[in-house]
Amino acid sequence: MRARIKSTTIWIAAIAMAAALMLCLTACASSSNSTAAAEPDPQEDATQPNGEFGNAVVVYFTGTGNTEKVAAYIAEDTGASTFQITPEDPYTMEDLDWTTDGSRVNREHDDESLRNVPLTTTEVPGWDSYDTVFIGYPIWWSIAAWPVDSFVSANDFTGKTVIPFCTSTSSSIGESGELLAELTGTGDWLEGHRFSQIATAEDVSQWLESL
Ligand SMILES: Cc1cc2nc3c(=O)[nH]c(=O)nc-3n(C[C@H](O)[C@H](O)[C@H](O)COP(=O)(O)O)c2cc1C
Repeated sequence: MRARIKSTTIWIAAIAMAAALMLCLTACASSSNSTAAAEPDPQEDATQPNGEFGNAVVVYFTGTGNTEKVAAYIAEDTGASTFQITPEDPYTMEDLDWTTDGSRVNREHDDESLRNVPLTTTEVPGWDSYDTVFIGYPIWWSIAAWPVDSFVSANDFTGKTVIPFCTSTSSSIGESGELLAELTGTGDWLEGHRFSQIATAEDVSQWLESL
């Protein structure tokens, strides 16, 4: 009788230990799975260098630096490369002074034939490798500053997603993106976004998250 009780106790103890072992194995397995899910896969990163935007470049023109700042925030946030559109004859502060009759921008504004501004180059290194092109510019008289026209006309955006952005004192982005899309006739142009002259990294980050 005593021997039977002893062997029953041993069996109960053995079953309890087996159950404890199973529980521990299950818990360990699920905790190691969640760690694996939280860690970035380096292989995945290598094929998606800029995350959801694929391989991205920020192309921009700037007269006084406001758009350049936004371009830099986008590049910082997404890991995109940058490319500055530079006219052969750069705009000085006097050139940009729209309050003075006869200034360069006023002459170009009044005579459309003067807006075909030659650029130092329209070729972006590695252009074919980009999936997404952010294109930025200041608003001049409610449209994109025209040096951007020269860049857009000279490039083929086929197969690329194009995301316009601008800075301005108060004007909205209006039709500026659509007009640029019409000029090239290629690419999948998304709705653009206007930033104030003093946009912050946080403003840019919020916009990128909303895309
Ligand atoms: C020639 C010229 C025309 C402008 N026209 C407008 C305009 O129509 N509406 C507006 O809100 N701001 C206008 N601005 C202000 C610029 O869009 C604004 O200062 C912009 O942030 C400049 O960007 P940037 O520093 O990258 O050149 C104009 C500025 C210049 C120089």
